[in-house]
Amino acid sequence: MKIKREFEIPIKLEVAINENLGAYGLSLSESKRIAAAIQWQSDFYINNPNQQTPWKEQRAQIAQWAYYLPLNFLRNLAVLNELKTLVPFDQLEAAFDYGAGLGASSWALRQAGFKGKITMFDRQTPPPAAAAAVTADFVSQFEPRNYRNQLGIFSYSLTEIPNRNDLLNQFSQVVIIEPSTQTEGRRLSETRKFLIENDFDILAPCTHQGACPLIVHSQKDWCHDRILFKKPTWMDKIEKNLPFRNDSLTFSYLIAFKKGAMKPEWRRSQTRIQARLTGDILPEKGKDKQLVCFDERRLFLTWMHKNKIDQTLPRGGRVEIPDDIEIVANEVRLKKEIQYLP
Ligand SMILES: C[S@@+](CC[C@H](N)C(=O)[O-])C[C@H]1O[C@@H](n2cnc3c(N)ncnc32)[C@H](O)[C@@H]1O
Repeated sequence: MKIKREFEIPIKLEVAINENLGAYGLSLSESKRIAAAIQWQSDFYINNPNQQTPWKEQRAQIAQWAYYLPLNFLRNLAVLNELKTLVPFDQLEAAFDYGAGLGASSWALRQAGFKGKITMFDRQTPPPAAAAAVTADFVSQFEPRNYRNQLGIFSYSLTEIPNRNDLLNQFSQVVIIEPSTQTEGRRLSETRKFLIENDFDILAPCTHQGACPLIVHSQKDWCHDRILFKKPTWMDKIEKNLPFRNDSLTFSYLIAFKKGAMKPEWRRSQTRIQARLTGDILPEKGKDKQLVCFDERRLFLTWMHKNKIDQTLPRGGRVEIPDDIEIVANEVRLKKEIQYLP
């Protein structure tokens, strides 16, 4: 069994990006000028990890359109695909894209088939074209009571917001996507703890409500996901002018619903323990290992080559732990291929 989690940028989004770059006298084929803007924006984020995106700077706008919007769109799409496996997506009525920027989350919601109303909110007014492209409304004031029962999406915005806990607690359904750095990843585990203490159930990536094993058992680990994507040629050309590349995309995320917001009929009965693959495959002599999470223990799913198990499973995927496993030290030893949950 070989399973790949791979995503791609839809042509519709590429066309919108190209059109909007026109406002700066650019198109996606002008790799060098776009790369210079991305380099500038990347340096800004590295030097000021919790500061507000400097929207007034033209280089920031270009970098957001040509690079951060499509990449964050892909990250959002992966997380929304996960959400779709957990709750009936078509029964969620409205979504609130908080710190929307150019609307990476809103684009992903539409791509995932979300038909409800979307409201984009940002402290900085995005170009009207950004909201129109995804048939979303844009509001410049946040009035919490109007959005309490909507799906609040925070994509790379919480990192810029100091009082995140109070804000999140105003919503009953939240999706959070944050940078995959150690600091932000570990900070998100603190947010997770706060949410659990405030009556939220964590639906993903965690399959349990206990303490995070990566925080309990390690001073340096942090939970983060990785997806693959089909890189368009124009992006490859831009990256040829940069000292970094994104060949896979990493991020940390949480999906959490307040207890009352998770309707009883949405809960699926589970016969076996569900687990998240929280690491990449680690080949070792005679066996393969992969970090897996289903309770507070820091465990590795392990399969011996002598058992002829031929499985390549993506980090971030969900599996069902069989009954006939053996747990030895930190290894969950498999006797046969594991059941992957699409
Ligand atoms: C890194 S950008 C992310 C944009 C978009 N969500 C994405 O995923 O590409 C962060 C956004 O959060 C917005 N933001 C920061 N602090 C905010 C606040 N207190 N209220 C509303 N928006 C905020 C910024 O203006 C910026 O557009």
